[in-house]
Amino acid sequence: MNTVHRTKKLLALTLLTVLPTANAQAAETSEPIGERPAIATHLDQADIDSGKLGIADLLRYGERLFVARFNMLDGQGRPGSTGTGAPRVPDQPAFVRTSAPDSNACAGCHIQPRAGGAGDFVANVFVLAQALDPVTFSTSPELSNERNTLGMMGSGAIEMLAREMSAELIAIREEARADAARSGLPATRDLVAKGVSFGRVTVRPDGRVDPTEIDGVDWDLIVKPFHQKGAVVSLREFTNNAMNHHHGMQSVERFGEDVDADLDEVVNELTVGDITAATIFQAALDVPVQIRSTEPARRAAVARGEAIFAEAGCTSCHVPVLNLESRHFSEPNPYNPPGNLRPEDVARPFTFDLTRDGLAPRIERAADGGAHVRAFTDLKRHDLNDDELEHFANEQVPQGTLNGFADPSEFTIDPVPRPTREFLTRKLWDAGNSDPYGHRGDLTTLTEAIFFHGGDARASRDAFLARPQSDQDAVIEFLKSLRVVEDLPGPPVRIRQGRRTPVTAVR
Ligand code: HEC
Ligand code: HEC
Repeated sequence: MNTVHRTKKLLALTLLTVLPTANAQAAETSEPIGERPAIATHLDQADIDSGKLGIADLLRYGERLFVARFNMLDGQGRPGSTGTGAPRVPDQPAFVRTSAPDSNACAGCHIQPRAGGAGDFVANVFVLAQALDPVTFSTSPELSNERNTLGMMGSGAIEMLAREMSAELIAIREEARADAARSGLPATRDLVAKGVSFGRVTVRPDGRVDPTEIDGVDWDLIVKPFHQKGAVVSLREFTNNAMNHHHGMQSVERFGEDVDADLDEVVNELTVGDITAATIFQAALDVPVQIRSTEPARRAAVARGEAIFAEAGCTSCHVPVLNLESRHFSEPNPYNPPGNLRPEDVARPFTFDLTRDGLAPRIERAADGGAHVRAFTDLKRHDLNDDELEHFANEQVPQGTLNGFADPSEFTIDPVPRPTREFLTRKLWDAGNSDPYGHRGDLTTLTEAIFFHGGDARASRDAFLARPQSDQDAVIEFLKSLRVVEDLPGPPVRIRQGRRTPVTAVR
């Protein structure tokens, strides 16, 4: 054991004697002298279940976790396990830029224009390298997929859209299943959720699903809106993954109580309550908006660009608005896979109103009690590659298989990898300040990103490029108007939060 590890053991032992179990407020007053963990107090889920901690507490504490620069006293690093939790040769270093732990804090990458946002090219992640041991060559495209950091603003609404869409798709499959059982013949149904078509599903009389015509979603029909690949169902699942992957911080709900899975001599690094707070912070972040310029010429260009965006067929994938039936976010997500908190694990789910609580600006309430989400996506995977254009076909390592969370025996064919060429339609509601662009973040302008739309988007891209330069400029101006609100210098700026709400002054 080298000096660093000896010191670590000593510090960790000291820590175990001082680490309080619960209550965020308690320890703030008298901070002990000397080395301290970044997060000295941890939340008890029971205090969330009982209503003792409300949305304001969870936002505050969740943000603290999101910006915390974890150190060895917190349990930073995973000297004995990989980013998937598998054991590896012990004594691995605290940081490895490629295969991770690769950063001090979530906000080390998600910081554009502030905590919770997108990231620079330098914040790219080599997705799936975290499973490698040893880490040599982990930037090779044969071993990992380099991806650019996305922003989480508005992701509470995105998670709820996906949940409602999954429920719709699963209900359609269950109708087909009942039909097949009744008739003794295979039953086929169109899969449409919130107006988005996901192909067709066939169920055999024996209950097995023929997935060959399912399109753009996993065969379990659970819409997974996170990762540009569409691989993770909830902010909570992502947070449990990311805490371990990026920081070597293991949550109790994933790794167990009093278990030192990563051999760093710290246990219970993140409580169930901690993960709830980090999740609610992300879910309750403000929503990107359309900024209304004070210059009439620019406003006119934005309006014209929005019309051309629709005329060119961009809206067939970048759907301008999807409607939520319920305006409430509820935690945890019922589709969470094992290793993540589920509704049956809590006394009652923690809920908040996406149109009223959380940080402003928020999504817009609909007349029917639901809400409008203007994210410019269909939450479906598409292939933007063809014989001439294959910029978006750069990846080689499949991220999981298409059976998703379902047992492979539920299907008539063996599971196949998620296609490396397909990605979720990128949300465009933050296009104005989430550069660089493309899943790898290797495109510096919006025009380049549009230029490389081949395959399923080829007709729409050609229609855009066939327009005169002034029309193309208008589309770009429209996309630039979609932004995460930041402290903008210069003249007063007004924001438009959807078409129906009155214009509000932000500053
Ligand atoms: C080293 C940079 C880095 C760090 C640190 C990091 N992330 Fe990320 N994050 C990314 C990248 C890159 C993506 C896009 C991944 C992809 O598309 O496959 C991402 C995506 C996400 C998403 C999904 C967003 C979406 O719309 O698909 C969530 C949620 C998220 N991160 C949460 C976290 C949390 C919570 C932490 C801290 C525990 C964290 N991230 C730490 C780089 C980082
Ligand atoms: C067939 C579906 C489809 C159509 C049609 C489509 N897109 Fe996309 N768009 C996507 C997908 C998928 C991505 C993600 C590409 C990637 O990074 O892998 C994307 C990404 C983008 C991006 C990059 C955003 C970022 O933050 O990286 C821009 C800009 C964009 N699209 C604009 C447009 C415009 C403008 C049109 C119409 C001319 C259009 N798209 C038509 C599916 C589509």
